Amino acid sequence: MSVPTSPVDLFSDEVLLDPYPTLAELRELSGVVHLPANDVWALTRYNVVRDALGDWETFSSAAGIGFNPMVNEALQGTSLASDPPQHTALRAALTENLSPRALRGLKGQIDAKADALVADLVASGSFDAIDSIARAFPLEIVADLVGFTGEVRSHMLDWGKAANQVIGPLNQRTAESFPIAGELYAWCSTVTKGDLAEGSVGRGVFEAEERGAIPPGSAGPIIHQYLAAGVENTVSAIGNIIALFAAHPDQLALVRENASLVPAAFNEVLRFWAPINVWGRQATKDVEVEGVRIPAGARVAVCLGAGNRDPRHYEDPDEFLVERNPVDHLSLGYGIHGCAGQGLARLEAHAVIDALARRVERLVVGEEVRVPHNATRSIDSLPVLEVVPA
Ligand code: HEM
Repeated sequence: MSVPTSPVDLFSDEVLLDPYPTLAELRELSGVVHLPANDVWALTRYNVVRDALGDWETFSSAAGIGFNPMVNEALQGTSLASDPPQHTALRAALTENLSPRALRGLKGQIDAKADALVADLVASGSFDAIDSIARAFPLEIVADLVGFTGEVRSHMLDWGKAANQVIGPLNQRTAESFPIAGELYAWCSTVTKGDLAEGSVGRGVFEAEERGAIPPGSAGPIIHQYLAAGVENTVSAIGNIIALFAAHPDQLALVRENASLVPAAFNEVLRFWAPINVWGRQATKDVEVEGVRIPAGARVAVCLGAGNRDPRHYEDPDEFLVERNPVDHLSLGYGIHGCAGQGLARLEAHAVIDALARRVERLVVGEEVRVPHNATRSIDSLPVLEVVPA
């Protein structure tokens, strides 16, 4: 059996900054491509990616979802790096406070905060979209929700960023980020119920541990996940909303005319620019996928961003079209590990899109600056030069 192989390095600066040409090249080569540079087997086509995410017995998370042994070790005890039955109990505790019902009470507050923020920015006329909204908004929401108080709030962005950066292979970015991610691990291993605000989701996790609903010692790793998973990807998604609507005023106009398009527009933002393009699994046995044999024990790179742009699944996949409503995009994962915080991410993003659509006719932006990141692709700065108010 011949094995499709490519010299591509998925974690090179060039690919991280602009992954789509490379992901398309790999996807056209095969649904499974061996990448010796990263020592991984890349899954590229929509159906292959989705099937793998749905088959945890073959594509396991237990040995970690990262691309170096140190991070996979550090993630032990989190739901991300576990399979059933361990995963089932951890996931139940994680989602108890993130379910649609639990979040219902937050909607009014999140909508009001987004609206006030967008109103202020429109009045100011020029601002940096990433600092002023993409970072500021989710930081405040997640910090309040999880119950972070005091000094830890000032570390959230850096800790969250580093915790995702170290998911990559042992390159320079990973090496530089481990000491910062280590501060997060250390804090999470000592945090107690009393450190988190009363009535918060974070406290609820410690209460679940006290009740015996989750194993002793698992509250800390769950708090770690809220912080690591809850901030960086949402910052990316909200920055992408602003950039994509600035670049596609016709698509913003469609949402302005029809507010019921807000959820569809967010699905399309996530499909078009996945915050996470590549994520890991490990093959538990020899498995044949689209005629290619992946050996037992191999590290697998699940290319969410490649599946999202697969022309076998989406018509005109490289077009940004808010009316498409791709509810089955892969950016929030799929299967038992599908994003546990997606309800919260949606509340935040819908609130921002809705406020923009009501208050802004057009955004004139300068050049978007990107910095390569091993796991989360996001915009680092995006100057808004002029706002044409609605
Ligand atoms: C747009 C923003 C977000 C994106 C793109 C995103 C993406 C993802 C993806 C792709 C996964 C699947 C990982 C896997 O299959 O191994 C995931 C899982 C997860 N996400 Fe999100 N996420 C976002 C926001 C959030 C938020 C706001 C939170 C929490 C407050 C959160 C918490 C989690 C957790 C805890 C998991 C692990 C679930 C499990 O292992 O069962 N995420 N996310």
